[in-house]
Amino acid sequence: MPGKILLTGGAGYIGSHTYAALSDAGYEVAILDNFANARPDVPDRLEVITGKPVTVHRCDVLDAAGLARVFASDRFDAVVHFAAKKAVGESQQKPLDYIETNCTGLVNLLKAMRAAGVFRLVFSSSATVYAPTLDWPIPEDAPLGYASTYAYTKLMGEQIIQQVAAADDRWRFGILRYFNPAGAHPSALIGEDPSDIPNNLMPYIAKVATGELPSLNVFGNDYPTPDGTGVRDYIHVVDLARGHVLSLDALMRGDGSHIVNLGTGQGYSVMEMLAAYARACGRALPHTVAPRRAGDLACYFGDPRKAERLLGFKAERDLDDMCATSWAWVSRRSNMRQG
Ligand code: UD1
Repeated sequence: MPGKILLTGGAGYIGSHTYAALSDAGYEVAILDNFANARPDVPDRLEVITGKPVTVHRCDVLDAAGLARVFASDRFDAVVHFAAKKAVGESQQKPLDYIETNCTGLVNLLKAMRAAGVFRLVFSSSATVYAPTLDWPIPEDAPLGYASTYAYTKLMGEQIIQQVAAADDRWRFGILRYFNPAGAHPSALIGEDPSDIPNNLMPYIAKVATGELPSLNVFGNDYPTPDGTGVRDYIHVVDLARGHVLSLDALMRGDGSHIVNLGTGQGYSVMEMLAAYARACGRALPHTVAPRRAGDLACYFGDPRKAERLLGFKAERDLDDMCATSWAWVSRRSNMRQG
């Protein structure tokens, strides 16, 4: 299904994998990114993966004139919007920055799209928009809420899109609520690359495996879960990327707007993740049990059935694949850094 797509945040972790998946599916894709949280060589690596030149517009979503220039430069059929800030802790320190980039940036984008006559949007949301619950798997119609400014901006983003679409029936959107992305591209050329000490489990374990960090702090082992540690719905980033292609395919063939979870429906504990990563990297990984992290839930995983019913999406890659591809990526990267 041909189409020309603008991919904002296309040089980031999920964005770059989605670039590869869209290109593989036959879409022509241009990246818009300000490279605030992306490596400058990601487009070169995407050229190696896809075997095709990569178009990059270096632009911030807060630059309305810049957005207008990008839309004037080409005729896009749809936009996939990732460009946003995503660190939960930082969002609590700098709420205005998060509201500005994630909400004002979205409004700027929607205005630029409307001015250019582009009315199809796939939006990168998060399972963080669900109100804390003890009732899982979580379906899309579960109560919503937020426990951080980051979560607030994602929920607000969803609502902005729905308000805009309610007032103008030319709009079609796909809102995708991700559970916990993990893993890397099988080429080991792109993957997650946090510059600071990671807050999330998978990138933290990866840095313990490479020796960049000494030991994992396991945040609590007294939760009401089988081994006492927190359980989450980890989804392979390559599966997640394919979810965006299927959402876009649906919009391109004229299906209605949709809001879906992208997860596996399967939960794994911190200790299961650690053991799987140890299998992938071939050595035991040091860890220490630490107090629970404030705001964490014991268990959190999604109901994936709506995405399967509406989009034909089903996650295919398992935990061992997530860990093996993550390890292939980080071990290659750290080898390169050591020269
Ligand atoms: C976190 C955010 C969530 C955000 C998501 C993005 C919090 C409270 N929640 O979700 O809003 O949408 O990231 O991916 O920050 N763990 C450890 N040691 C660590 C790190 C994590 O034991 O060093 C545990 C956690 O307690 C949890 C599990 O690993 O049980 C997963 O944690 P994480 O990767 O941070 O994801 P979430 O908490 O699901």
